[in-house]
Amino acid sequence: MAKVKAALLEKVGAPLVIDEVELDSPREGEVLVQVRASGLCHSDLSYIDHDYGFRLPIVLGHEVAGVVAEVGPGVRSLAPGDHVVTCLSGHCGLCTMCVQGKTWLCTEQHRVLGRNKGMPSRISRGGARVTQSAHIGGLAERVLVSELATVRVRSDLALDRAALLGCSVVTGVGAATKAACIHAGDKVVVVGCGAVGLNIVQGARLAGAGFVVAVDVDDAKLGLAVQFGADAVVDAQAGDAVAAVRELTGGGADHAFEVVGVAKTAAQVTKMAAKGGSVYLVGQPTPQVEYAFNAFDLVTSAKSVQGVLMGATQFRLDIPRYADLYSRGRIKLDELVGQHVRLEDVNKAFQAMRDRTSVGRTVVVFD
Ligand SMILES: NC(=O)c1ccc[n+]([C@@H]2O[C@H](COP(=O)([O-])OP(=O)(O)OC[C@H]3O[C@@H](n4cnc5c(N)ncnc54)[C@H](O)[C@@H]3O)[C@@H](O)[C@H]2O)c1
Ligand SMILES: [Zn+2]
Ligand SMILES: [Zn+2]
Repeated sequence: MAKVKAALLEKVGAPLVIDEVELDSPREGEVLVQVRASGLCHSDLSYIDHDYGFRLPIVLGHEVAGVVAEVGPGVRSLAPGDHVVTCLSGHCGLCTMCVQGKTWLCTEQHRVLGRNKGMPSRISRGGARVTQSAHIGGLAERVLVSELATVRVRSDLALDRAALLGCSVVTGVGAATKAACIHAGDKVVVVGCGAVGLNIVQGARLAGAGFVVAVDVDDAKLGLAVQFGADAVVDAQAGDAVAAVRELTGGGADHAFEVVGVAKTAAQVTKMAAKGGSVYLVGQPTPQVEYAFNAFDLVTSAKSVQGVLMGATQFRLDIPRYADLYSRGRIKLDELVGQHVRLEDVNKAFQAMRDRTSVGRTVVVFD
């Protein structure tokens, strides 16, 4: 049993509380990781602001990189001292989805990544159970996770960069290179240029896109999108973003990505797609939200709309590959790290995300 500092959501809509929690010792198949960096994902902000039905209190955070401190019995792929990244797309390898190769859709995730009923919870406070977001609970000095939710990464990769591989990079680069079938020369539009959107921009370039348009409501984010490979940018606050994108692309994009998670931009991306084009919904809406599309346009222009979860990642394969691509200068991670903060400043950092004043990923760093 170890005591660690963590950021807890005790009440939806309230600031996170920094408090000490107890972590159990690693059991069968579990790994204790000393966290060095934990990225703040917009999904975490959604969990703070909207009720997703989680049992509270919960330790949020899932984009973690750190060093293995201890392994439980039966752990075969990791040893103390290894550098690891966590991913919420851990999987069983045996269910129908896994056998089909769609490991990110594993139907047994909760069973294999969490603890069995009757076992003590991994995190507790004063003897009371604390929920572990995504079976990771990354906004803490240490995490106790299933081996199945981790992958070893090369030790020459800075851990604040490595952390981003676990969510924003697999989600964004994966959406462009795995979920979408981008052909050389295709036209792409990305609406929402936070860390996930920027990774779609660089993923689209990697996949051979001929022309990439980035759309956001903030100039600094659009500036960063150009660094990540956007050929043109559209400020959605400056006028009709749909008309601007349709003009820039000469009638619409072959691939249109929504990376905000709200109804307005979801409707916009369907109109930004060209005849026969594909629309990818990457932004995570609140559970109650319904999107409305113009069905006549979808049918008569034969557009397809697809939800994309975690960039269709097989993270054990993808994360080491993306680390190699970074080391060869083929994808950017340095520019993706917007700012470092301490755990104590996590509420200020989420407020900046809410206000859209933070650019790139905010990464909580630990000693
Ligand atoms: N599908 C998945 O598996 C998955 C995985 C991770 C994150 N997500 C989701 O992806 C989305 C993006 O995540 P992030 O961490 O990059 O968020 P972020 O907050 O860093 O970025 C969101 C961006 O959208 C921009 N934006 C807001 N309103 C806009 C508008 N009307 N038009 C254009 N741009 C607008 C903001 O300025 C910001 O740059 C979130 O909804 C998040 O929950 C989904
Ligand atoms: Zn995330
Ligand atoms: Zn499975």
